[in-house]
Amino acid sequence: MEPSTCPYPLDPTGRELHAEAARLSARGPTTRVSLPGDVEAWLVTDPVVLRSLFADTRVSKDPHRHWPGYRDLPADWPLHTWVSMRNMFNSHGADHRRLRALIAPAFTARRIRDLRPHIESITAGLLDEVASAPPGVAVDLRAHFANPLPVAVISSLLGITGRDALDEMRGLVELFFSTTTTPEQMVTGMETLYRLFGEHVAARRRNPADDLTSDLLAMRDEDGTRLSDGELTDTLMLMFSAGHETTVNLIGHAIAELLTEPRHLASLRAGEVSWEDVVEEALRWQAPLANLPLRFAVEDIAIPGGDTIRAGEPIVAGLLAANRHPAHYPDGDLFDPARADTAHLSFGHGVHFCVGSQLARLEAGIALSALFDRFPRLTAAFGELRQRPSFISNGHVDLFAIPTPAEA
Ligand code: HEM
Repeated sequence: MEPSTCPYPLDPTGRELHAEAARLSARGPTTRVSLPGDVEAWLVTDPVVLRSLFADTRVSKDPHRHWPGYRDLPADWPLHTWVSMRNMFNSHGADHRRLRALIAPAFTARRIRDLRPHIESITAGLLDEVASAPPGVAVDLRAHFANPLPVAVISSLLGITGRDALDEMRGLVELFFSTTTTPEQMVTGMETLYRLFGEHVAARRRNPADDLTSDLLAMRDEDGTRLSDGELTDTLMLMFSAGHETTVNLIGHAIAELLTEPRHLASLRAGEVSWEDVVEEALRWQAPLANLPLRFAVEDIAIPGGDTIRAGEPIVAGLLAANRHPAHYPDGDLFDPARADTAHLSFGHGVHFCVGSQLARLEAGIALSALFDRFPRLTAAFGELRQRPSFISNGHVDLFAIPTPAEA
């Protein structure tokens, strides 16, 4: 076996995410990897170690303060958006608390529960469109169902209107989740995304409405020390992108598995497992974010039974590997919604724990139950599913199925 200190280049095509994760787990709890642009980092695959690093105040997400290598990065480094944006995702300590506090109240359990009728209505509308396909014709459920649902929910929360701008924003976000994006594509994509969000903010400044963008603008105008202009735009971009791509992957993986292994549907119908169980196990089994960049050691951190991560070294969270780690999940490759221990790290842990976890769970639960209620005879029309070209985003390129209605 290769030593954990020999850098393993993460495959940017994401073709064999699980095989790669298993190989890397076998090298130890932490292992060196190389990222595009020859940036080296520690990948953490052991769930116990990862959980403790997520909760460790000696680990930062602020590259400006805690990653000396950040200064040497070329401006067109393809993963720049993952570290450079000025929002809660890339901040540490007091800055993180300040930026997260502006958003968190909109995502309390009660506020999310209140969104149920809205999400159900969007879901029903999308299923009407799926149902309008000619009999026997396969529909791409990623493009026409799993993707537009979370996009519609997050864009209405943010008050993003205008179909063309929304479609363009969606396309650009896919570019950032891909790890085969070229430096040129990344630079022009970022420029366009900033222009589109700039236009969105300007429109809301002219016409405030009942949405998160208008709320943030009001906070900004009230007290500029709470949120700068740059932080406002970067926060909106974070909410938009984090608010859909991962949920699309979750819904897509769950649909694919339910179509491939119909016994799960039988268990659901027999009441042996619930939709919540299915969603939770799908989150564990197919972490929607496979490898999460980047964290930085603020001081030297000795990993029990492993290496020492030196101050200033970057860290990638191996969520996909951790959720199936053989030492912690003896049958981790198996999708089993009835399993006793469904604990997983797909939403992270600690102060950066996903703000939208309850929303994602609610959307996925509504989407899956409504889809299989409406089309109990839904049939897979895919063979080998193609992975998106990414070692970050774990999802499919497309997901074709034939939506035969119940009465046909
Ligand atoms: C299945 C769906 C989702 C998955 C798997 C997921 C995963 C994650 C993970 C792993 C983190 C932690 C990042 C870190 O520790 O570095 C995170 C943070 C975050 N997520 Fe999610 N997420 C999902 C859905 C959502 C949704 C629907 C929203 C918003 C509406 C959202 C907004 C955020 C935000 C704002 C953060 C940053 C929190 C912080 O840094 O304090 N996510 N998410």
